[in-house]
Amino acid sequence: MSVPIDAGGAHELRLEGLGRQFGAVRALDSVDLVLRAGEVHALMGENGAGKSTLIRCLAGLERPDAGRILLDGLPLPSGHPAAVRAAGLRFIHQELHAVRGLSVAENMFLDHPYPRRAGLVNWRAVNRAAQAALSRLGVDDLDPRQPMTGLGPGDQMIARIAGTLIDEGGAPPWLYVMDEPTAALTGAESERLFAVIGEMIAAGAGVLYVSHRMPEVLRLSDRVTVLRDGRHISTRPLGETGQERIIHEMTGRDLSALFPPRDALQHGDTVLGVRGLAAPGIRDVSFDLRAGEILGVVGLAGAGQGALLRALIGAAPRRGMVTLDGQPLSATPAGAWAQGLAYVPPERRSQGLMLGRSITENVALPHLERMARGRFFLNRRQQARRTGDLGAKVRLKAATLSQGCSQLSGGNQQKVLFARALAGAPRVLLLDEPTRGVDIGAKSDLYRLIRQLADDGVAVLLASSDLPEVLGLADRIAVMQEGRLTHLKENSGMTEASLLASFYDSGDAA
Ligand SMILES: Nc1ncnc2c1ncn2[C@@H]1O[C@H](COP(=O)(O)OP(=O)(O)O)[C@@H](O)[C@H]1O
Ligand SMILES: [Mg+2]
Repeated sequence: MSVPIDAGGAHELRLEGLGRQFGAVRALDSVDLVLRAGEVHALMGENGAGKSTLIRCLAGLERPDAGRILLDGLPLPSGHPAAVRAAGLRFIHQELHAVRGLSVAENMFLDHPYPRRAGLVNWRAVNRAAQAALSRLGVDDLDPRQPMTGLGPGDQMIARIAGTLIDEGGAPPWLYVMDEPTAALTGAESERLFAVIGEMIAAGAGVLYVSHRMPEVLRLSDRVTVLRDGRHISTRPLGETGQERIIHEMTGRDLSALFPPRDALQHGDTVLGVRGLAAPGIRDVSFDLRAGEILGVVGLAGAGQGALLRALIGAAPRRGMVTLDGQPLSATPAGAWAQGLAYVPPERRSQGLMLGRSITENVALPHLERMARGRFFLNRRQQARRTGDLGAKVRLKAATLSQGCSQLSGGNQQKVLFARALAGAPRVLLLDEPTRGVDIGAKSDLYRLIRQLADDGVAVLLASSDLPEVLGLADRIAVMQEGRLTHLKENSGMTEASLLASFYDSGDAA
């Protein structure tokens, strides 16, 4: 059973001079914008640009303190989510707010009236409608009756997206507003969502789409609006803009300025020597990494990039020879860390950060054991000062260092992990997808930091699926195929296309 979408007419939502102030922060500053049925309108901007505030104002969850919102020329009631829904708007908000103790179906129905029979909630109909909505997203293995809190973040997001697809029988929705819906989704789940967005547009509805992921935006949108510091910078048809222009408008900087300049390739002695390394997912890998060098590691997904880093840090059993400054490298994470090998893992939420703990704790905790062993124990004030110094070095933007890491943006969470790695004054820095899910401003900060560390003599191994990032940062690039290192080249004259081609050809270096 599928849920029909019928947008029912050419509606238009007009934002005029919309403003919202939080203390000293002007989250929205006199924003004008028109949203129409029948098109995907992307809303772009760095973290803190005001996107979610704009969406919460639309939803009636936040009252604007200036301007107005007109639906087909009539004021949309402000501060009344139910009235906004009745006007045909549906929202997928950025924060996950699963209600504990309620089932998946009950969470999906939070904003909807329950189907009833003879005055009683018709639970069979509730679960059937939930199942039908999930099916539209291609999800048939989620039981609508199971508790929502048992689900991972990806499945919770799927359930919330499906919740907007429930047919209430009233006026059909004509505008779907999605705030970073794919942030927690897998590639396949995202594709299902894009297919549903296609159906929405075909049925005449509109979509306001917020995402950091440029390829999604370039693929899905008809028009693109850029916000910066709460201000409306531009709204353009996709054909009149593109990645470079959007980045320029989001940041006020050029794409070429995103990457710090690389000096003439003057590198020091070999810091990390790898010979005949074998481990789960990699075979016979050999290379040298020199002081001051950034070596990019690329390949198709799962070709061994992450496995190589995990083997080096001692997180997986390995054979072969690894040396750091000529000494055999310890095969345990604690030993490798003590020798000066630092690692920033790819999944910061699950592998890296203790989200419930403060910034200071996240930066200092892994070091305390080592400090204690050296009869050198920092007191709280010293810890905080050291964290403050490191925070400044990585350009961390946080209200206080005692702030919990769960409240930070993705970019700032990643900066906390960098600060932790730097607290050990590493000789070698292993980075696995260091800017995934990070906004462009924080990316630029991290790129400058990585180059600065290399200039200070740190040897950097950068595993990344972001090819412009590798081409912009790396001095040399290693390509992996099926666990082997097949190419190792100076980064000059290479393009994304030639790099991609090397993922498939048989290679010439080892
Ligand atoms: N409830 C709030 N209280 C105080 N400041 C807020 C609140 N909501 C948002 N802000 C601030 O408003 C600005 C815009 O935030 P937001 O709309 O979440 O940006 P985006 O979604 O583009 O990342 C940020 O500086 C943010 O810290
Ligand atoms: Mg947001």
